[in-house]
Amino acid sequence: MKNKIKIAPSILSCDFAHVYDEVKKIENSGADAIHIDIMDGHFVPNLSIGPKVVSAINRSTNLFLDVHLMIYNPFEYVEKFIEAGADLITFHFEATEDVADTLNYIKKCGRKAGIAFNPETSFSLALKYLELCDLVLIMSVHPGFGGQKFISSALEKIEMAKNFKDDLNLKYDIQVDGGIDLETGAKCKKKGADFLVSGTYLFSSGNMKDGIEKLRSC
Ligand code: DX5
Ligand code: ZN
Repeated sequence: MKNKIKIAPSILSCDFAHVYDEVKKIENSGADAIHIDIMDGHFVPNLSIGPKVVSAINRSTNLFLDVHLMIYNPFEYVEKFIEAGADLITFHFEATEDVADTLNYIKKCGRKAGIAFNPETSFSLALKYLELCDLVLIMSVHPGFGGQKFISSALEKIEMAKNFKDDLNLKYDIQVDGGIDLETGAKCKKKGADFLVSGTYLFSSGNMKDGIEKLRSC
């Protein structure tokens, strides 16, 4: 049987006046993980939350915490996010020269490690790191904000990630983040995505459980 696609609602789109309730809503919706966007105001032109809020989320749920670092020098912050409860740490390929060291360090700490690619970054630049990855994240919007339109060139990159994965017999998940709804989610799945992140679509769907079921079967 084909593996079920994983779905992670992005907490960036939640109502931050009621984070605990929003986490519970995600937990009761059948999601596989909570996607948590960390922004430093330098790597991306926006600021979000830090380890303290990740730790509060962790104390509210047993769900898998998928932490997406959009920050420079991710290596320096790995420990803090692990202490806060991250189960997976994904950092941007463009944000550091220590790609291998950072991947290895996250894994040495017993957590899953991923690298993310901005829409304009060529996937082929990262081939030598793929065997170290538990996950590759193909950004389908410019990172920094929720609610943007899906950039369709991400589809070619998903296909490349899938081809390399199959050809080299690698095990990483292919995650896609940005502008995911039923239409774009279906396109990503067709190209080989295994893990979809969705903020705006899931949080505005009224019923998150329904939204997730629809996204799984689109
Ligand atoms: C963008 C973030 C995304 C964002 C997705 O920088 O990485 O996780 O929250 O939100 P939507 O689904 O609204 O594009
Ligand atoms: Zn994200």
